[in-house]
Amino acid sequence: MKNISIVILAAGFGTRMKSSLPKVLQKISGLPMLYYSIKEAKKLSNDVKVVLFHKAELVKEEMGKYFDDIEYILQDVERYPGTGGALRGIEYNHDKVLILNGDMPLVQSSELEKFLSLEADIVMSHITLNDPSGYGRVVIAEDEVKKIVEEKDANEAEKGIKEVNAGVYLMKKEILDHYIPLLSNENNSKEYYLTDVIFLANDDGKSVRSIEVSEDNFKGVNSKKDLAEAEEIMQERIKDTLMKNGVTIRLPKSVYIESLVEVEGECYIENGVSLLGKTKIKNSHIKSNTIVEDSAIIESQIGPLARIRPKCHIEDTHIGNFTEVKNSTLKGVKAGHLSYLGDSTIDEGTNVGAGTITCNYDGKKKYQTKIGKNVFIGSDTQIVAPVIIEDDVIIAAGTTVTKDVKKGSLAISRSPLKYVENFFYKFFN
Ligand code: UD1
Ligand code: MG
Repeated sequence: MKNISIVILAAGFGTRMKSSLPKVLQKISGLPMLYYSIKEAKKLSNDVKVVLFHKAELVKEEMGKYFDDIEYILQDVERYPGTGGALRGIEYNHDKVLILNGDMPLVQSSELEKFLSLEADIVMSHITLNDPSGYGRVVIAEDEVKKIVEEKDANEAEKGIKEVNAGVYLMKKEILDHYIPLLSNENNSKEYYLTDVIFLANDDGKSVRSIEVSEDNFKGVNSKKDLAEAEEIMQERIKDTLMKNGVTIRLPKSVYIESLVEVEGECYIENGVSLLGKTKIKNSHIKSNTIVEDSAIIESQIGPLARIRPKCHIEDTHIGNFTEVKNSTLKGVKAGHLSYLGDSTIDEGTNVGAGTITCNYDGKKKYQTKIGKNVFIGSDTQIVAPVIIEDDVIIAAGTTVTKDVKKGSLAISRSPLKYVENFFYKFFN
């Protein structure tokens, strides 16, 4: 841990997102943007504070799912709006303070550590971009950062500057204590800009140094387009790590894998697959266009075109196309085609025929289905839960199972077949 305090600014309205969800809760690879900044910050410091205002309770509740030792500070946005206003009245435990915008989900602690290696009153960072729009421009003269001009306040010449402010700053506590109260809101946004601290400090002869960083790590996410672009970078990161660990991914650009997914051992993930939530895949083959959510897949083959919904544990099993499984435990099972298996446990050696449906819902409640070992379920079978099918059972094709089936039995329900010779010719003359 470093001897620094970290403040993450997350109070803004995020108007450019055009969403009822606060900007910092917009998701990237399955998790709210703010989650990533907090996670990286916590790798560096035990003193992490998050400044909130807009829908503060909702943001706290969401972050509470992942972190329990974060200090939240409520910004007085009515009187002091803006990133400078966000820092008013904060007390820091350490002499140096790292300030992060909460809309930088790609930031990594290894990048943040670079700020700590420089000695200055203020260490900031800039990105050089061909299209600098949306960011504050960094005015540099004689190798010194003079000031940062926000896009709304920039003149034409300043708008052409390609060095932009990345939105991370390491400042001495005394700099913040001194300059934050001196900020004014005389600008086109009528906000107190944190970035003006740099101008004021430089004017007073304080040392300001800026390090060059890349947009791949420091991209600010303000709009849905930014969100999509950051998502692409995050996805590439997630899949690169998996491939480095030996996972085979066919056409990686077409595959979507969320941040908390674990893929272990020898796995093959085909094109178009989505792995969501806290999914865990081990030694398995996930075939094209399959979706797996919050489930464990071990030593199995799933898909193509299968959907594994939350709370499944699937082991040593083959699931084929157009099969949906939910809240079920399957071990040593074959379900090759067109089935719905919900709220069920199915044991070794059981074969689920095409068109098998567990009827788990009566319109009011969900019920469990338990199927034993070596059961052969013929095609087009409905299993009306709650029901227990014991080991070594045959269910004939087309059967509706409405009561428990004992070990070793055959269950069959069929209306007798009517057979009329030459009916076709008579009917159609
Ligand atoms: C800011 C910088 C800009 C920089 C860019 C990098 C300022 C004035 N501008 O612009 O120079 O290039 O980030 O991404 O700082 N926030 C608060 N309280 C507020 C307003 C904002 O906590 O009153 C938070 C937001 O929730 C957000 C962060 O501060 O997480 C940055 O605010 P945002 O509105 O995104 O600033 P930018 O316009 O992107
Ligand atoms: Mg921003």
